[in-house]
Amino acid sequence: MTRSDTLQNVNRIALSTADVSSSLRHALQLVEATMRAAVDSDVTTLRDASHHILEAGGKRIRPRLVLLSYAAVGGADMREAANVAAAIELMHTASVVHDDINDHGIVRRGRPSVNAIWGRTFALLTGDYLFTKVYELMAPYGDLNIALAEAAVALVEGETLQASAVKENRFTREVYLDIIGRKTAALFRASGSMGALLAGADRETSETLGAFGYNIGLAFQIVDDILDLTSDTDKIGKTAGIDLAQGKGYAAVERDGDLISAAVGNNSADPMAKIKAKVMQGNYVNEGREQAQMLMHAAIAHLDILPDSDARDELIALARSVVEREF
Ligand code: IPE
Ligand code: IPE
Ligand code: MG
Repeated sequence: MTRSDTLQNVNRIALSTADVSSSLRHALQLVEATMRAAVDSDVTTLRDASHHILEAGGKRIRPRLVLLSYAAVGGADMREAANVAAAIELMHTASVVHDDINDHGIVRRGRPSVNAIWGRTFALLTGDYLFTKVYELMAPYGDLNIALAEAAVALVEGETLQASAVKENRFTREVYLDIIGRKTAALFRASGSMGALLAGADRETSETLGAFGYNIGLAFQIVDDILDLTSDTDKIGKTAGIDLAQGKGYAAVERDGDLISAAVGNNSADPMAKIKAKVMQGNYVNEGREQAQMLMHAAIAHLDILPDSDARDELIALARSVVEREF
């Protein structure tokens, strides 16, 4: 029997009767409860700030990716993947708490950011606390820790490369792709591959789910950068317009280096409004959306190795939602 036959059999048993969306909903509830319980410190600032950012919600796309990848390779009970999904979401949440310090973001998930309420020092410590809680949740999962550690390292490297590229004014397309691959797509890759490994998938299958995640992670960040430009703070629930203002994001890629220097040398009352108008006239938004579409199709093509299942369909829907999203 080939690996693919085995997978088909497992899936037939595991998913023929299960309603994937209701299993997903239940598993996501468990993820929420697990995260909330994990941050129950008796140090009130840490607990309150953690609850503040967690209860604000968020799309929970990474835990969905963990749970659906698990199910799509034949995992029988998504709740089995809830701890790992919670750990990944906590890592992501820690990264946005720290990111808002670096980017001076004052709105996150439709609420004032942790730094806006508690200040930089406590935001830094809350992010540290959330990162540290990941170790605790991941303790029972042996080698899976290696995959998650790689993603955490990539995330920090990506944020650092981004700050350096902005500082040194060398935001080329190549640098941009390297940055978003590390700061965002690496954790999406870990989500896909770890979900598959938890269900007992072999190396090739888990890497394929990882590649699926990586591609949608790249698309996700490109779309995010476009929304930073085209949407507003109320709609996206976080401070809009800061990427371009800080000389980063999709529209800041090298061909627009001129735009950024023009912004610096511009003495009009609102230089950013002018730059934004210029960016919007150009083809950047269409080009970015096209690139995200291509990445989404490349992601979906990776799923060809999996047998048909509701979970696989949900993964395809997830990939589509990444490029179609408005917030
Ligand atoms: C925000 O991620 C950070 C990026 C990688 C762009 P999300 O857009 O997934 O944030 P939440 O969790 O939904 O708030
Ligand atoms: C996203 O950074 C990646 C991380 C948070 C590590 P961004 O700065 O692009 O994301 P937003 O727009 O603040 O969510
Ligand atoms: Mg930011």
